[in-house]
Amino acid sequence: MATLHQHDVLIIGTGAAGLSLALHLPAHLRIALICKGQLNEGSTYWAQGGMAAVLHTRDTVNSHVEDTLAAGAGLCHREAVEFTVNNSRRCVEWLVSQGVDFDLREDQHSIEQREFHLTMEGGHSHRRIIHAADRTGRAISEVLTEKAMAADNIQLFPRRVAVDLVVSQGRCQGAYILDRDNERVELFQARAVVLATGGASKAYLYTSNPDGASGDGIAMAWRAGCRVANLEFNQFHPTCLYHPEAKSFLITEAIRGEGGRLLLPDGSRFMQRFDERAELAPRDIVARAIDHEMKRLGADCVFLDISHKPREFLESHFPTITERCAELGIDIAAEPIPVVPAAHYTCGGVVVDTRGRTDLPGLYAIGETSCTGLHGANRMASNSLLECIVYAESAARDIAGSLPGVPAPALARPWDESKVTDSDEDVVISHNWDELRRFMWDYVGIVRTNKRLQRAVHRVELLQAEIAEYYGNYKVSNDLLELRNLAMVAELMIRCAISRRESRGLHYTLDYPGLAPEAVDTILTPGNSTLQAEPHPKPA
Ligand code: FAD
Ligand code: SIN
Repeated sequence: MATLHQHDVLIIGTGAAGLSLALHLPAHLRIALICKGQLNEGSTYWAQGGMAAVLHTRDTVNSHVEDTLAAGAGLCHREAVEFTVNNSRRCVEWLVSQGVDFDLREDQHSIEQREFHLTMEGGHSHRRIIHAADRTGRAISEVLTEKAMAADNIQLFPRRVAVDLVVSQGRCQGAYILDRDNERVELFQARAVVLATGGASKAYLYTSNPDGASGDGIAMAWRAGCRVANLEFNQFHPTCLYHPEAKSFLITEAIRGEGGRLLLPDGSRFMQRFDERAELAPRDIVARAIDHEMKRLGADCVFLDISHKPREFLESHFPTITERCAELGIDIAAEPIPVVPAAHYTCGGVVVDTRGRTDLPGLYAIGETSCTGLHGANRMASNSLLECIVYAESAARDIAGSLPGVPAPALARPWDESKVTDSDEDVVISHNWDELRRFMWDYVGIVRTNKRLQRAVHRVELLQAEIAEYYGNYKVSNDLLELRNLAMVAELMIRCAISRRESRGLHYTLDYPGLAPEAVDTILTPGNSTLQAEPHPKPA
């Protein structure tokens, strides 16, 4: 007899978005909160720089809004930007009330006033990044996880992988979920389902993201019939550590905010040649400049130098970076840090409104998996943790208000494994995983061309066919599910990139270097696209 789980709300993802939403829902609702691995393994845990919010007396909502719109290169939705920024102070207060310990100003006069230390990042015209040294994500994640574990109405399910959504009577009514320990797919039913599954930067060979950022929520929503948008805008963080032993280690933009300078291998500065804001230009500009210089010089990396700051300052503001670099033999107080750009953030995603509602009744998407209109063609640094918390709250309010009118889900069919067997050639998964991420890096990277995108689309179509056949014949595993989703999202990214015939924000193509007169979102609709939202073959 297959196991059936029944809750009021099913939340898929335990990052800043999923955890905050669970904690904002009323205590009488029974909530299932699931994640692929352990509770703290999403991108949230690794966030360094901080969270943008209007907190300084000389800063204004209008200034944060205008900076965000400028970074987004004409494509942000003003309504979403204003909604997010207007709620920023309240969200910081909520995090503080939960127990998150943000850094305070060293010179503050009284503890009651709680004057936070604010740092600076690219694109911001004010110091407005609240942070906990360089481990802000960890501070948020640990506090919210502890709160969720203590809540009687929240049941946590680690090591569970959502496979696909259950859609019945025109509503999302739950999901099929793989238990990685007993390798069974179980049915979770709920009256509201929330995708808080993070981004898809694992589509690229080099990324700052942890394993698991495979776009599962975007792929599941697409297969369930939801629109996705702006997936051509993959943000490359300009400065990831370049070292053979350092996998996915970020060097926060706050280092540049505190005066860090980017240098070529000969020790000369170069950013002032590309933008008057130099090292503090928005990320797309800095990443492209580094890519350009590395290609021009045939260099493996560039360097980020903060060694002019006192050692004590670096150790207290950037303890994680100081320690990690020291482990690898780099003394950041005495020498420059070797850095390269790497895939960092998925600006597009599942189309939602300001309450996190998708096209499918009963289905919400929040955090990096969604496309709210906040980021436009380029996310401004530290706006994403803010987006997670703001939309978690608004989605929670909508769910709480609408659930009383939602009937209990109809009984769905259990997962059927009668036609599949155990895989005897997992090499197909690892080979396709590597191939996908390499051609995405080479053909759909920082600088694109029509030819490269056409090559990528052919490659991804072949992979998709092979993966679909494999999926139809073998039992599901976490690796297979991630590969299937990543290939699906990679195809959506490529299709979006092909259809944008201009260079805007993060999408830069040599074939259309100019800006089109009108800024238009790239919206893909299942069924209306050459890409069909294939129905999943199981359950029978
Ligand atoms: P995540 O935190 O990524 O969590 C995703 C969750 O979904 C995980 O629990 C995962 O297990 C679960 N999940 C995914 N798929 C499935 C599935 N199929 N089944 C079950 N569970 C699933 N942003 C800022 O604003 N400021 C910063 O300083 C900052 N620094 C960053 C530094 C690094 C190194 C990185 C990688 C990102 C940084 N970002 C920063 C971006 C920001 O951290 C993320 O955008 C944000 O944390 C995403 O939160 P989330 O809740 O949407 O997803
Ligand atoms: C960083 O600390 O540089 C990352 C900030 C972000 O991604 O918003």
